[in-house]
Amino acid sequence: MTDITDNTELTPLFARPGESAPRDLFSLGDEEMLPETAYQLVHDEAMLDGNARLNLATFVGTFMDEHADKLYSEAFDKNMIDKDEYRATAAIEDRCWKILAKLWHAPSPEDTIGTSTIGSSEACMLGGLAFKRRWQLARRAAGKSTDRPNLVMTSAVQVCWEKFANYFDIEPRYVPITEDHKTLCGHALAKYVDENTIGVVAVMGVTYTGMYEPVEEIAKALDAIEKATGFDVPIHIDAASGGFITPFLQPELNWDFKIERVHSINVSGHKYGLVYPGLGWVVWREAQYLPDDLIFKVSYLGGEMPTFALNFSRPGAQVLLQYYNFLRLGRVGFTQVQQASHDVARHLATSIGAMEPFELWNDAQDIPVFAWRLKKGHSKNWDLFDLSNQLRERGWLVPAYPMPDDLSDVIVQRIVVRNGFSMSLADRFLDQFTEAVTFLDSLDGPVPHEHRVTATFHH
Ligand SMILES: Cc1ncc(COP(=O)(O)O)c(C=O)c1O
Repeated sequence: MTDITDNTELTPLFARPGESAPRDLFSLGDEEMLPETAYQLVHDEAMLDGNARLNLATFVGTFMDEHADKLYSEAFDKNMIDKDEYRATAAIEDRCWKILAKLWHAPSPEDTIGTSTIGSSEACMLGGLAFKRRWQLARRAAGKSTDRPNLVMTSAVQVCWEKFANYFDIEPRYVPITEDHKTLCGHALAKYVDENTIGVVAVMGVTYTGMYEPVEEIAKALDAIEKATGFDVPIHIDAASGGFITPFLQPELNWDFKIERVHSINVSGHKYGLVYPGLGWVVWREAQYLPDDLIFKVSYLGGEMPTFALNFSRPGAQVLLQYYNFLRLGRVGFTQVQQASHDVARHLATSIGAMEPFELWNDAQDIPVFAWRLKKGHSKNWDLFDLSNQLRERGWLVPAYPMPDDLSDVIVQRIVVRNGFSMSLADRFLDQFTEAVTFLDSLDGPVPHEHRVTATFHH
């Protein structure tokens, strides 16, 4: 007869080896454990993560419906690079970026080129690499040096552009933001652009604030520079967030391929494209703007597959989810979803802006994102980092952080409203926000800062 005390399967959950004794977390254990036990250990530790829906810092999707979840679980195993095996997924990928090219007014949609990526960072880098290669080819053809390429952008670009410049040996030229010029707006651009400028980045939905950069004005400034100097400088639009907002909420805005100088646009499928993490897109206005010699043709996947990506293997499921959203929502549904987030963001901005201690930096006119600062002299006892900590104690993540150059002495706090943050939940948030402010205002001495956790700023 077997000794039932040796039978781990009969041992009650949480009393099993692996769960009932401490373990070395940083070495591979010698023995196996039951899958149920391993599952429970990982599941329980993941419970310690915050509640994603209460995270008002991130731009990345935290809600999809049950049909999307079902589709996701059916497609976990699909590798986007295996385009010969997953021909249907590859065909759907092409449909998705063609839909985006049309949404962004590509002049001849049949002649555009695009791809999915793991996110906007990769998509931005591909856009930047196309700029660099086109500039190199033109300079070589003219017998000129290609030693010192530079890229012009605002100091408020997302960190992916700093990475791009660093990883690919490009001099970043940051146009500082100021109280008078809160975004890159064409002002003083001539001081930054020269014959070595591979391009200018304009952001539709600046990470720090959610504001749009006026692409039309930037393009006009570049037209004037070209007239004066002959430098023909293209624009890449980093529309990581705005690319899925403007077509539905501000269709009259002139920012996309309607402007000739705009060569390429990226967007995050996993932000306002409403898909779970792991999806970006980049589209070029015409195939000629993506130099051929950047595209690799690989034969070892079956067939001859063109690829232009920094990664090789990558999940294919998110591409199917993007297509699901296109089918499920259409123009009307996308407009409803984005409008709902916009209404919530405007409501929150108006309410916070009306509170005595605060001053809005922007009011969520653009994407459903806004930032505010503490009025000078409101209190000697607390600052926005303290408010962030108070909200964290109540389960909400609302980061406080310094603005970039030349405004690094300005501290702001920001809210990103995403699909799934309803008006009713927003009002419960406002209750707790008010409670936190009332508590801080009631203190008769400064909050001790040695225990302060600095809130995370999600780029
Ligand atoms: C303007 C902008 N560009 C690029 C990125 C990077 O996007 P991803 O996280 O998809 O790589 C972000 C992310 O917040 C962003 O806001």
